[in-house]
Amino acid sequence: MRTERLQADPNGVARAGELLRDGGLVAFATETVYGLGADATDGVAVARIFEAKGRPRFNPLIVHVADLAGAERLAHLGEAGLRLAAAFWPGPLTLVAPLREGAAVTALTTAGLDTVGVRVPAHPLAQAVLRAVDRPVAAPSANPSGRISPTTAAHVLAGLDGRIDAVLDGGACSVGVESTIVGLGPEGSCLLRPGGVPRETVEACLGQPLAPPQFQGAGVTAPGQLASHYAPTVPVRLHAEAPFDGEAWLGFGEDPAAALGLPAERRRNLSPAGDLRAAAAALFADLRALDAIGKPIAVAAVPEHGLGLAINDRVRRAASPRSEG
Ligand code: TXA
Ligand code: MG
Repeated sequence: MRTERLQADPNGVARAGELLRDGGLVAFATETVYGLGADATDGVAVARIFEAKGRPRFNPLIVHVADLAGAERLAHLGEAGLRLAAAFWPGPLTLVAPLREGAAVTALTTAGLDTVGVRVPAHPLAQAVLRAVDRPVAAPSANPSGRISPTTAAHVLAGLDGRIDAVLDGGACSVGVESTIVGLGPEGSCLLRPGGVPRETVEACLGQPLAPPQFQGAGVTAPGQLASHYAPTVPVRLHAEAPFDGEAWLGFGEDPAAALGLPAERRRNLSPAGDLRAAAAALFADLRALDAIGKPIAVAAVPEHGLGLAINDRVRRAASPRSEG
């Protein structure tokens, strides 16, 4: 793939918007670091983020929107969230808040969680892109997995040239470190990641100290388990060739479950065509749907390459939900 170099002018912004609306990957400047954007409502586009970064696992991604109204369409910010939004948006602050029912983000963006991380960036170029796309944009830092976050377009190209559709050059990032992430829970707010807004400044705004992350209310299902991983409540069996009696089935590619007479509501297929991007896009929604049935889930083998690594990492965690933070 040829990575287009786009300038920070109306043509560049329009092209970035067009590529993103078509399911493409565009890196763009924010005031913190360059983000690798994809349409957060498009599961296959979001799957391509993980593929391009070579991320071995599915972390929840930050969703970028142009303004508070856009954030409120996705999340229940609550009183503390609204206060922080008024003080620090647009700017280097991400709020993790309960996901609004029916919000237009694909389950891969939130890694299947009931919460979503939202941010309104201040950089004029990021603002222009978000308004051109007119959809929420999922964007982790635009670097290969495990490498340092990029603060210039040249850094982005050094890591991702040929792996993404375009980079929109907005010069050097002014903040240079990632956003501060604050989790908003029923029992108060916690610091999930230090970043561009100092902790003390956040605490002064709230009039309260931020709790450590393990006290975050939303999504915590077991002691010692952080809120950043969705875990099914039912047992999960891996590398299954076919479902046993009493199991639900999560297939991939050619699928024996239908021929075995398993009722349609007890089985899902991540991708009948065996496509790993489609499978990644479907993974969390399918796991949740099967979890809701209440039967143990048998999961077919998924090839251990490309996005298959992240899919397998995720189902392994699902099979041992208490062992991982
Ligand atoms: O400054 C930034 O925040 C940059 C720019 C591009 O906006 N983005 C960024 O994204 O640093 P990333 O993917 O490198 O970091 C996202 C982190 C995840 O690893 C996770 O810890 C947290 O945000 N996160 C996002 N959604 C979450 C959720 N629902 N629950 C818990 N943590 C979440
Ligand atoms: Mg990062």
